[in-house]
Amino acid sequence: MRILGIETSCDETAAAILDGRKVLASLVATQHDVHARYGGVVPELASRRHIENIIPLIRGALDEAKLTTKDIEGVAVTCGPGLIGSLVVGVAAAKGIAQARGLPIVGIHHLEGHILANALHDSFEAPAVVLIVSGGHTQLIRVDRIGSYHFLGGTRDDAAGEAFDKIGKILGLPFPGGPAIEREALSGNPKAFDFPRGLRYSGECDFSFSGLKTAVRLKVESMGKLTPTIIRDVAASAQESIVEVLTEKTKLAIRHSGVPRLYLAGGVAANGRLREMMQDRLGPEGVTVSWPPVEYCTDNAAMIACAAYHHISAGRRDGLALNTFCRGELSSWA
Ligand code: KG4
Ligand code: ZN
Repeated sequence: MRILGIETSCDETAAAILDGRKVLASLVATQHDVHARYGGVVPELASRRHIENIIPLIRGALDEAKLTTKDIEGVAVTCGPGLIGSLVVGVAAAKGIAQARGLPIVGIHHLEGHILANALHDSFEAPAVVLIVSGGHTQLIRVDRIGSYHFLGGTRDDAAGEAFDKIGKILGLPFPGGPAIEREALSGNPKAFDFPRGLRYSGECDFSFSGLKTAVRLKVESMGKLTPTIIRDVAASAQESIVEVLTEKTKLAIRHSGVPRLYLAGGVAANGRLREMMQDRLGPEGVTVSWPPVEYCTDNAAMIACAAYHHISAGRRDGLALNTFCRGELSSWA
C-alpha cells in the first residue's frame, strides 16, 4: 500500500512516500534559518513557511519515488499535538489531495509517529517501553500493541530537547541546541561541572529539567568570559546530566513494567551519548534497546505514513471532518 505522509506540526515541513513500511522518499525542509535569530520557533513565521514549502515538497517526494498522486492509495497527516497554524497547513493539503483522488485520509498523533519511526526498518515488537524525547515532549510510554499506549511518566517542566536548546542558547551555540551541544561535548569533560540531576531519586518516572537550565545559567554568569574549553566542558557536563536522568528513569520504568524491551524516539534519540548510556546500563539487565536511524528521530513524514499504514490496514478512515488539536495525550487519544 503506497501512502503519502505529511508532517507540519512545528517548524519542519515534511513529506514522504511509503510502500507498506518501506520508505520510497522522505523529504524534510527545515526552517532553522527562519527561527535561529529568535532562539526558538515563532509560530506565525512557521505557518507562513509551511504554506510556501508544502506543495513543492509533496511534488518533490512524488518525483523522488517516481510516482504521481494517481499511484497513492492513502494519505496520512499529523493532526496534533503541535502549533495549530502549522498543523492546519498540512491537514488542508492532505484533505485536498485525498478529496481530489478519492483516497482514505488518516490523522496521526505526532507522538505515535515518533514511536513508529522504530517500525520503519525493523518490525516493532510489543510489549515495549518507549522513551519519547523531543523538543516538546519527554515521556515514558508502555506500548502493549500498536494503538494501545499507557503513560508511565513525563516531564513536570521543560522537555529534554527544550533543555538542550535553552542551554545551547546560554552557551551562544547555534539553534537547535541539541546537535550543537553533542558536537561540543565530544571534546569536553563531562565531569568538569557537577550539574543537578532533577528528581533523580524521586522513585517515580517523572522528569524535571528546569533546575539544570538555571544551574547552567548561574554557572556561566559566574565565570564571565566563555572560552572554547569552558563551552565544551559545560556542554559535556550538562549533556551528561540530561542523559543520566533519562537513562535512570527509563531503567525504573522498565523495572516497574516488567517489559525487557526499550525503544528510543524523538529528536533527542539522535544523541550518541544517550544511546551509549542506555545500552551500557540497560543491556546488562537483559533489556533489548533499539532506536531509529538519525534521520527518522527528528521530525519527518515517513514516521507519520508508517503509523498510518498500521491504522489503514486495520480499517481506520477519518474523512474530511478531520480536525487539528494543539494538546492531547497519546494514551487518551488512541
Ligand atoms: O522530534 P523533534 O525533531 O521535534 C519535536 O517534536 O520537538 O525534536 C527536536 C529536538 C530539539 O530540541 C533538538 O535540540 C533535539 O531534538 N535534538 C537533539 C539532537 N538532535 C536533535 N538533542 C540532543 N542531541 C542531538 N543529537
Ligand atoms: Zn517531533
